[in-house]
Amino acid sequence: MQTQNLNTPDALWRPMTQHKTLISNRPKHIVKGEGCYITNEDGERILDGTAGLWCVNVGHGRKELAEEAKKQMENLAYVNPTMTSDPAVELSEKMLKMMGMEKGHVYFTSSGSEANEVAFKIVRQYHLQAGNTRKHKIISRHRAYHGNTLATMTATGQAERKIGYEPLAPGFLHVPPPYPYRKHPKLTIEEHGEECVKFLEDTIIYEGEETVAAFLMEPMISGGGVLIPPDNYIKGVREVCDKYNVLLIMDEVVSGFGRTGKMFGHEHWGIKADVFSFAKGMASGYMPIAATVVKEHIFEAFYGETTELMHFRHINTYGGHPVSAAVSLKNIDIVKQENLPANAEKMEKYIKNRLSEFADHPLVGDIRGRGLLLGIELVTDKDKKTPVSLAQANGIIQNCIKEGVFLMRNGNTVPGLGNILIMAPPLVLKENEADQIVDAIKKSLNKALN
Ligand SMILES: Cc1ncc(COP(=O)(O)O)c(C=O)c1O
Repeated sequence: MQTQNLNTPDALWRPMTQHKTLISNRPKHIVKGEGCYITNEDGERILDGTAGLWCVNVGHGRKELAEEAKKQMENLAYVNPTMTSDPAVELSEKMLKMMGMEKGHVYFTSSGSEANEVAFKIVRQYHLQAGNTRKHKIISRHRAYHGNTLATMTATGQAERKIGYEPLAPGFLHVPPPYPYRKHPKLTIEEHGEECVKFLEDTIIYEGEETVAAFLMEPMISGGGVLIPPDNYIKGVREVCDKYNVLLIMDEVVSGFGRTGKMFGHEHWGIKADVFSFAKGMASGYMPIAATVVKEHIFEAFYGETTELMHFRHINTYGGHPVSAAVSLKNIDIVKQENLPANAEKMEKYIKNRLSEFADHPLVGDIRGRGLLLGIELVTDKDKKTPVSLAQANGIIQNCIKEGVFLMRNGNTVPGLGNILIMAPPLVLKENEADQIVDAIKKSLNKALN
């Protein structure tokens, strides 16, 4: 390929961006953040309707987190991860307690992708050490995002994200998730839940239960389009997993730490997984940190006589980083003290109530979500549920930005269905800020009709 003289605004290779679009439209740098707002280099304030990438749960500009980082950095900025620091130990214990787990163990990494990758390796090695030598397959769901590494991208159920990177990792399968808005019209919501549980059970049976290690799911699919399961679904999944000795991995990377109106997303259904992955809201994006939490019986499989498989052969330079752990502890204090899950629940009601003002708008197919993880499915025909085109969806988002509100849609996910506008602002959102989001969407949708 010939080298071109490319005219890009700077040397930064941005994610998910065709850089040609930047030539005439250089993105303004963001220079400050405060509460729910970010400010660009021209001094324009933008309401951050996605809390960064759905992670700045406590809002921007928290001085107490900066102070905590400084204090920890001055004391001990880094330690070899085979050694131990006070913040890492304290954080592991705090997380178990918050999750109501009397016992268990916590493995720290730096991103949600790594937390899921660690989960895959743990479940495979666990089964091997427990004598189930063929249990290695991991089943996940279409539409869900689980990360950007080769294995987590394979587990991701979004065909468009995989273009250019195949062949991916072997040993992964997908089943359809519940999607109440697009369920078969003859099924009740409960029957739809049962149907989706059966997809999982049938897949385990057809693959051979002795080959299936784990089922991976988010409590509610977030980046894949805000899909909330029927109430009977997760209970059914748990039963199937127990029946076939398949471990349940719950990806709480987005839903953890208050986002959905409870401290953890799975609490909506009272079902415990065997393995959990966390990131984003753990330190509200102030420092990179992630965790894989396992029930004690899984950890115990790594606790026997020393053989080549009796320890977890995995290490990452920044796992259990003392500064990240210290900031995460302080962040958790803020989430609890300010009761941010409750505020997320309160704001969900407020926003849904305001959104109901234009539920009959011709482009609004469905309004859904829990806490401050909300979606609007945009359609051009309400009866046929025809999704709006990507150009239309992008236009609506651009108009929201012009109104001073940054929102996203599910992008590069599944063919033809990039039509869900996603709201996930910081959990400190107030009513007047929620109004600003809703007003921007309303104006933007009306503009799209003209
Ligand atoms: C549900 C879910 N799991 C995992 C990840 C991967 O996290 P990270 O981007 O920190 O690697 C994401 C990222 O958006 C996510 O939404």
